[in-house]
Amino acid sequence: MATENFIQSTSEIARISEDSAKLKIESKEFDLPVVKATCGPDGILISKLKNEAFVTLDPGFLTTAQCSSNITYIDGEQSILRYRGYPIQDLAEKSTFLEVAYLLIYGYLPTKEQRDSFIDDVNGRTLVGEDFRSFLGGFPRDAHPMALLSSSVAALGTFCSGTSSVHDLQAIEEATKNILAKTRTITSFLHRRRRNEPLLYPDYSRGYVDDFIRMCFAIPYERFESNPLLVDALDKLLILHADHEQNCSTTVVRITGSSNASLYSSVAAGICALSGPLHGGANEKALKQICEIREYIKEGKTIQDFVNMVKDNKQKLAGFGHRVYKSYDPRAAIAKEYAKKMYDAKIGDLDLFELAFELEEVVMEDDYFSSRHLYPNIDLWTGLIYKAMGFDPEMFTTIFALARIPGWIAHWREMHRDPLTKIGRPRQVYTGPVYNKYISVDERKL
Ligand code: ACO
Repeated sequence: MATENFIQSTSEIARISEDSAKLKIESKEFDLPVVKATCGPDGILISKLKNEAFVTLDPGFLTTAQCSSNITYIDGEQSILRYRGYPIQDLAEKSTFLEVAYLLIYGYLPTKEQRDSFIDDVNGRTLVGEDFRSFLGGFPRDAHPMALLSSSVAALGTFCSGTSSVHDLQAIEEATKNILAKTRTITSFLHRRRRNEPLLYPDYSRGYVDDFIRMCFAIPYERFESNPLLVDALDKLLILHADHEQNCSTTVVRITGSSNASLYSSVAAGICALSGPLHGGANEKALKQICEIREYIKEGKTIQDFVNMVKDNKQKLAGFGHRVYKSYDPRAAIAKEYAKKMYDAKIGDLDLFELAFELEEVVMEDDYFSSRHLYPNIDLWTGLIYKAMGFDPEMFTTIFALARIPGWIAHWREMHRDPLTKIGRPRQVYTGPVYNKYISVDERKL
C-alpha cells in the first residue's frame, strides 16, 4: 500500500512546450525551451547555458524556478492559495490538518478508509522513547525551542528503526509518519520543559490537535477537556501553514534532500531555515508590536500616530506586506475569523485583539499602504491566537514548523520522484581577486 501511494502520487514531469525563448549575447544566440505551467508563469529552461561563458544571476531567486512542482499554487495578485488544486478556503472550512497532510504528501484526498488508517498510523507513532527524553534532557531548559526542535528532528533519525535510504520506499513511508507524529510530541515537550513541567505521554484515543493541546496544557493528575474552539482554531492554523510552495525553508529541504540526505536531516535543515526572524519569526514580532502600541496609547497617543511614526522612519509594520501576496493574504482572512471567534469567546487578552482589529482598519485606510499593495498577512493574527491559547512567544515558530512538516515532506518526496532532479549546486559570478601571490607572514605589511 505504501509503495502504491508513493507511485500513484508521482508528479507530472515538466512539459516542454513548442515555444522557445531567444537569448542573444554578443555573437551567440540560444534557443531556450519553455516549460509550460498549468497556471502561473511558464519557465524558461536555461540548462543549455551550462558550460558556456555566462551564468544567470538572480539574488534571492526572485525570478528563478528551482523545479517544477504540482503541490501548491499561489497567485499573489488574485489572493489565491491552493493545495493540489483545492482552494485553501475549502480546505480550512471542510478538512482537517491530517487529511490535508495526506493530500499534500500523496497528492489526492483520501477515501474514508485511507484517511482513518493514516490517522491511526500517525497517532500510533506519537510516543518517543525514554532514551529520547533523556537526550532532550541534556539541553538547557532556556535554549530557544527552534534550536531544540531542529536538533531533535535530526536526532529522531537515529532513534527510529529502519534505514534512512532515499531509495527505500518503506523507510520513506516510516519516516514520513514518524516525523509527523513525533514532532508533535516533541513540540509539547519543549513547551513543558521551558516551564519546568512534567512531560506527558500521548493519548492514542484523542485527535492529533486535541492531544497536542492536552500534552501542552494538562495538569497530570487532573482530567483534561480541551476547549473545542481552541482545537478547531489550531487545526485551521496548521492547515493554513501546511505549505507555501518554494519559500526559504522548503527550498532548504529540497536542496538538502538533493544530496540524498535523509528525510529526517532534510526536515531538520528546514526547521533551521524557518528559525530565522525574516521567515518564521514574524508572528512573534507582530505580537510584540501590538504590545508596544498598547504602551504608546497609554502615553496619550493613537494608533494612527504609531503608524505615522513607522512611515516617517521608513520602518516596516510587522504583520503587513508579503513578498508574494500583493492583495489580501487569503490565509490572513481565515486567521482573522478565528481571532474574532477567540475574542467573542473572551479567550486571551481582549485588549490586544481590539488593538489588532483597529490597527488593521487604520492601515487599510492609509494611502501609504494601499499604494504599495501592503495588506495584513497571516502573522498579524497567529501570534495573538497562539498567545490567547497559552503559548509563550518563543514557541510560536515551533507551531509554524509543526504545521509546515507535511509541506516539507511532500516537496522532498516530489523532488526524489522527479527525473530532472540534480544535486543542488548553484553557480556564482566571481568578483574576488584574480590572482594573489602568497607572502610569508614575516613579510606582510598593513
Ligand atoms: N510596513 C511599512 N512599509 C512596508 C512594509 C511594511 N510592513 N512592507 C513593505 N513596505 C514598503 C517598503 O518600505 C517599500 O517602500 P518604498 O517603495 O517606499 O521603498 C514598499 O513597501 C515595497 O516593499 P518591498 O520591500 O518591495 O516589499 P517586499 O515584498 O520585498 O517585502 C516583506 C515583503 C519582507 C514581507 C515586508 O512586507 C515586511 O518586512 N513586512 C513586515 C514583516 C512581516 O510581517 N513578515 C511576515 C510575512 S508573512 C510570512 O512570512 C508567513
